[in-house]
Amino acid sequence: MTIKAKYLLWIGLVLLAFTRCVHEPIPPTDGDHGGGTDTTGTGGGHNDTTGQGGGNTDQPCDPDTVYFKNDILPLLNSSCGISGCHDPATASDGVILTNYTDILATADVRPGDPTSSDLYEVLVDTDPDKKMPPPGSGIVLANDQINMIYTWIQQGALNNACDPNAGQCDTLNMSYANHIEPVINTYCLGCHNNSVQSGNVNLAGHANVAAYANSGQLYGVIAHLPGYKPMPQGQSKLDDCTIKQIKSWIDDGAPNN
Ligand code: HEC
Repeated sequence: MTIKAKYLLWIGLVLLAFTRCVHEPIPPTDGDHGGGTDTTGTGGGHNDTTGQGGGNTDQPCDPDTVYFKNDILPLLNSSCGISGCHDPATASDGVILTNYTDILATADVRPGDPTSSDLYEVLVDTDPDKKMPPPGSGIVLANDQINMIYTWIQQGALNNACDPNAGQCDTLNMSYANHIEPVINTYCLGCHNNSVQSGNVNLAGHANVAAYANSGQLYGVIAHLPGYKPMPQGQSKLDDCTIKQIKSWIDDGAPNN
């Protein structure tokens, strides 16, 4: 196929995707600060950059605050900062979404003003040529994820982090809906969803996640056990508490609870 034919095919696919799926702009309300934080409020978020585990000095998580390191960076890393899109090597349109400095500078983030910030605007744009992730890409952000980005910018687009476990790690009676799915959605879903299945792996929904949990692969990849590909790919390891919580849920039989 010639380059031109490929280009026309691509445009066609984008138009097709758009006509099949009309995206309603999401009206975030100023008072709705809580929506997004639920996604990782139970322990998914903390990236222990020191690698020490346990010895971190981050503040406890405030449920009304969206945190860059816990909520925003892992989401952008797994859904946007990927090869072929907005990793430093590709930098489509000059936009790099893998670290705080580049996110603010190249996605034109205006602290306090989400609707003037490119990072938010493209998520709710109805023009298929401008909308991100591109309608043809198969990557879709959920409304609560988009609202979380809105709230983070509105709260000043800070380079902040919190300790979701406030120094403690509760691993008893882990629930898929409250403890497991939010972690998967933030750290894994961008590369492993119904449309994009890196390594042929789909982690959308309980049945898929449970299959990898029961085969031992889920724990193998997140605990970086020998013989497994370390996940999330290209990012730091999940924090120790989150790994223990997922392990506990797997040991309980990976229930849909
Ligand atoms: C940036 C994209 C990306 C992210 C984010 C990501 N993965 Fe992957 N994943 C891949 C790719 C690519 C492969 C195939 C790797 C290979 O075969 O070398 C893969 C492979 C896998 C496999 C099969 C591994 C094996 O050993 O065969 C599992 C299971 C998996 N991922 C789970 C996860 C989980 C769980 C997360 C979140 C904690 C995650 N992935 C996050 C890209 C990603």
